[in-house]
Amino acid sequence: MQLHVSPSMRSITISSSNEFTTDLMKIKLAARHISSRTLFHTILILAFLLPFVFILTALVTLEGVNKCSSIGPPLINFGRILVLKELYDLDFLALFPNLDKVVFLDDDIVVQRDLAPLWDVDLGGKVNGAVETCRGDDEWVMSKRLRNYFNFSHPLIAKHLDPEECAWAYGMNVFDLQAWRKTDIRETYHSWLRENLKSNLTMWKLGTLPPALIAFKGHVHILDPSWHMLGLGYQKDTNIENVRKAAVIHYNGQSKPWLEIGFEHLRPFWTKYVNYSNDFINNCHILE
Ligand SMILES: *[C@@H]1O[C@H](CO)[C@@H](O)[C@H](O)[C@H]1NC(C)=O
Ligand SMILES: *[C@@H]1O[C@H](CO)[C@@H](O)[C@H](O)[C@H]1NC(C)=O
Ligand SMILES: *[C@@H]1O[C@H](CO)[C@@H](O)[C@H](O)[C@H]1NC(C)=O
Repeated sequence: MQLHVSPSMRSITISSSNEFTTDLMKIKLAARHISSRTLFHTILILAFLLPFVFILTALVTLEGVNKCSSIGPPLINFGRILVLKELYDLDFLALFPNLDKVVFLDDDIVVQRDLAPLWDVDLGGKVNGAVETCRGDDEWVMSKRLRNYFNFSHPLIAKHLDPEECAWAYGMNVFDLQAWRKTDIRETYHSWLRENLKSNLTMWKLGTLPPALIAFKGHVHILDPSWHMLGLGYQKDTNIENVRKAAVIHYNGQSKPWLEIGFEHLRPFWTKYVNYSNDFINNCHILE
């Protein structure tokens, strides 16, 4: 089961998938022009409604409703580990009270290696295992520090954050939910969301990463970069050797491999897992 809230936060897509088929359900959230207050309330209401949506989706799936969506299907080699996708601002912990650990995968990634060893990485008591985004050969992709995400002219940001601090990547993370339950990450996340709304969204632009960067401060265990290679959707000068070696490659950025604007030489790493004789894939008119 996967959840995808569109970047504009106007729709939520719920999907459940096995290796080659995906059931999708898309829910529109609001009209095109919405105030930040409406948005905030919508998020609260959604958080409340989510458990019911899960049940509804399960029923839809049982009935075998197969609908195509504008987003690409998540094509993931599931292997033998649990894969879940969720957002921190929804009540992650309450939804999965019996889970102790989760591997979180975005819907624009390809898993190229067995992730079982990732499951066993010692997070040293931290909550979130993630790769850093400020060191590495690729000077453009690996140039993300807190100053790239926040408005440091805002007094609250300047007071609490260091602009030079390295950011971490969202898209392939290991979350230790047992450790998470002992923290106030969720409360911190929500209080910063509220502050940003009060400041008319001048602290950071909409997005889930900035408030997560604050909320998980001090709770992140840095993973080896070969676990998660970023930037395949926004730059074409990607080192192909590194793409081959990475456990997970991430097409973050606009140039998704299933779109015409995808980078030609990076596409095969995705297409080799696509089953073009599958009805669902066929109906999606994915580039061949
Ligand atoms: C936010 O915008 C509203 C309306 O434009 C304005 O009245 C208010 O003072 C602004 N608040 C801040 C903190 O800038
Ligand atoms: C950054 O914060 C300052 C101070 O609150 C504000 O005047 C400015 O408009 C903000 N910049 C953006 C892009 O929101
Ligand atoms: C591809 O999809 C077709 C139709 O759903 C199915 O019969 C076939 O087994 C699939 N191929 C693989 C490799 O799973």
